[in-house]
Amino acid sequence: MSNNVQGAGVRPAQWSSRFAFIMAAVGSAVGLGNIWKFPYITGENGGGAFVLVYLACIAVIGLPLMMAEVMLGRRGGQSPIGTMAQVAADEGRSRSWVGIGFMATLASFLILTFYSVIAGWTMPYILSAASGEFGGIAAKDSDALFGGLLASPGQLLLWHSVFMGLTVLVSAGGVRHGLERAVTKLMPALFVLLLILVGYGMTSGHFGEAAAFLFRPDFSALTAEAVLVALGHAFFTLSLASGAMMAYGAYLKKEVPIARTSVVVALMDTGVALLAGLAIFPIVFANGLEPGAGPGLIFVTLPVAFGQMPGGSFFATLFFVLLLFAAWTSSISLLESLVSYLNEKGVSRVKAAIGGGLVAWLVGITTVLSLNEWSGFTPLDMFARFEGKTLFDLYDYLTANIMMPLGAFFTALFVGWKMKPAHSAAELGGWHRVWFPVIRYLSPIALLIVFYFNLW
Ligand code: TRP
Repeated sequence: MSNNVQGAGVRPAQWSSRFAFIMAAVGSAVGLGNIWKFPYITGENGGGAFVLVYLACIAVIGLPLMMAEVMLGRRGGQSPIGTMAQVAADEGRSRSWVGIGFMATLASFLILTFYSVIAGWTMPYILSAASGEFGGIAAKDSDALFGGLLASPGQLLLWHSVFMGLTVLVSAGGVRHGLERAVTKLMPALFVLLLILVGYGMTSGHFGEAAAFLFRPDFSALTAEAVLVALGHAFFTLSLASGAMMAYGAYLKKEVPIARTSVVVALMDTGVALLAGLAIFPIVFANGLEPGAGPGLIFVTLPVAFGQMPGGSFFATLFFVLLLFAAWTSSISLLESLVSYLNEKGVSRVKAAIGGGLVAWLVGITTVLSLNEWSGFTPLDMFARFEGKTLFDLYDYLTANIMMPLGAFFTALFVGWKMKPAHSAAELGGWHRVWFPVIRYLSPIALLIVFYFNLW
């Protein structure tokens, strides 16, 4: 089967099964967001109450939006850009709605440029762990190791290049031979690795403390800021408002139930985040480490903890391999919006993947430098909002705080107000009755509130 060049309007290649789609969508959703970011922001925001708000955001805003995106993708059957053009035309609406597709493609491309740099960190950690370098390492040495990595443009560039290469490799292989083959192997492996680590956490003697930290809500520790962080993270962790779910929805067969499948994807994504918390916090508590240590939580503190445990080198290697897998299946989806669009325009998949990856790699170099040589280069200082932000900070801010909420808002408006309810009902079945009022009223209003707090 060849899926190299598809003319506009021709249905692209499809996932071979519902399982393949679930693995791809879960692969996209589960990434650095779950294993690196969720534990550290939970630690910073006081634990249980934050987790509860995050779960509510997933259920009330994230899940309905995911259903909307997969539904749009399957109806349009093309790249996010092609899909929005198609669906807007089918509904007799303005062509400007294609803007949702363009913004989503740009957002996922921008995220890819820095995601690759962070994902690259896992590789020197795998090497260090496997060579036993963490054995008995002291906290300050671990800190210096991480600092040394960030301070070295050469090392960061090397691993960023390797990671981008891995991403392009899978993407160039196409839907069935690249994406599907990779995710159906990597995702189950990830679950097994994670369960082994949770099993270790259970034997550490501090599992109860970790569980209490994650699940016993203390609302006095909750701030308004934390609510915003939780909502923003709900989008990021589910890969929403960036075309990923639309692009993957386009490869979904008609008979697969979208609503039920989306619930499975959201549950698995949430499950992995909670499992990651249950794997990491027992280690943090057992070693008297600080849960609110920030972005360095896993890179600085875990080597210390692994360095003290029996079999630590083995478990540390396992952990960073797991993180690499998770990031890899996410980055593939970050490239997919662009590759599928170029593919529609007549560019072969291989060329599209290589070209897109190359440009993302080049832009990524500015993130590499933001962490060291250019850490003082904060070009938008004249605006109070962007003061002190490096290029890397700006990409992150622009995508997470502006493009994604905006994209989500317009997507909710489109499916809630511009699309015939009979059309969405045809895709969503019985769930439509609950989903529709949520996406029509609740989601846009919640997003407006977020915008208000974010910008003013
Ligand atoms: N969801 C992934 C994570 O948690 C990251 C990711 C993949 C993503 N595709 C995306 C984030 C699209 C935003 C948009 O790490």
